[in-house]
Amino acid sequence: MIGERLLAAQRARFAAADPLLPMPAGPPDGEPLTAATASGEQVAGVVQTKTHAPGTLDLLWSAQRVWQLFPFPGETGTEGIDALLRAWRHALDAESPGPDSACTVTWPSRDAPAIRAFLRHGLVPISVLAIRTAPPAPEIPPADLTVRLATPEDFEEVLALTKATFDYTALVTSHERPDAVELMTPQLKRNLAARAPIWLAETGGVATAIADCGWVESAPGTWAAELLPLGRWGYVNNVATRPGARGNGIGRALMSTVHRDFAARGAVGTYLYYNPTNPLSSVFWPRQGYRPLWTFWEVQPASALR
Ligand SMILES: CC(C)(COP(=O)(O)OP(=O)(O)OC[C@H]1O[C@@H](n2cnc3c(N)ncnc32)[C@H](O)[C@@H]1OP(=O)(O)O)[C@@H](O)C(=O)NCCC(=O)NCCS
Repeated sequence: MIGERLLAAQRARFAAADPLLPMPAGPPDGEPLTAATASGEQVAGVVQTKTHAPGTLDLLWSAQRVWQLFPFPGETGTEGIDALLRAWRHALDAESPGPDSACTVTWPSRDAPAIRAFLRHGLVPISVLAIRTAPPAPEIPPADLTVRLATPEDFEEVLALTKATFDYTALVTSHERPDAVELMTPQLKRNLAARAPIWLAETGGVATAIADCGWVESAPGTWAAELLPLGRWGYVNNVATRPGARGNGIGRALMSTVHRDFAARGAVGTYLYYNPTNPLSSVFWPRQGYRPLWTFWEVQPASALR
């Protein structure tokens, strides 16, 4: 279905779009989808469906039922993706996705010709994976600020600050989980007990910001290697400053500690996800040296794909 021609074109396209993208692997398993452009060029894709079980962590950022398209648009620019999305819309007519559902596509952020096709079909750029490979910048923290690693005793503060991110994200995305606290509690407890790199900033002894981080190894054959260049990456999972304390340089000082610590321990860089519609993080992260690598396109519910 997805032959050598489409795979070679995909590799050339990704390499031309962004030198930091990993070389695309072969097509994933799933339902094949085929289409042709107006000029007769054959394109193809694979559709995967998954249902997240109640209580699983994926539900913090994902719809429960997900249809994901992996396009292989050849050398067709906007047109091939447009044709595949039309074919996908047609195939979805036979399904009943329900309200807690989404159609998603993960695509290189810098492949500009694809963007128009996604927008035309009702997909929105819900999130980006952004990376930072620059050496850490020195930062003079505000006078009364201390930054330290959190311990299991800090659970309540860590949970409250983590929740602050979800409260804010609920305002700036269409994704709201009233049960966010229940969903994230077990993992937070586990990570604190394992002494994961979860950083707390304190002002006068009061916790004012959190950077919940971890390590991700991008090794050949792993899921991480499909998204990131090979190496050991610092993953910045969740960062928040208490609402009343934002805009005072706390986030900047906290991240300078995080970046210095990851670099000292041999990270090739750091990466994170942010929502382009978040007016705070979409400015904060690029100023911190992050730039988009992958964009996560989504339409909810899945039946709203145009
Ligand atoms: C993103 C966030 C963690 C940044 O933390 P912070 O402590 O406000 O960061 P800083 O003060 O160092 O920098 C914030 C920037 O916004 C500016 N700013 C000014 N007033 C602000 C205000 N009232 N609120 C927020 N930011 C403000 C700051 O001046 C600064 O810009 P600068 O680089 O030009 O100085 C914080 O805004 C936050 O908690 N947002 C809600 C949760 C969230 O979106 N998390 C990120 C998920 S990916």
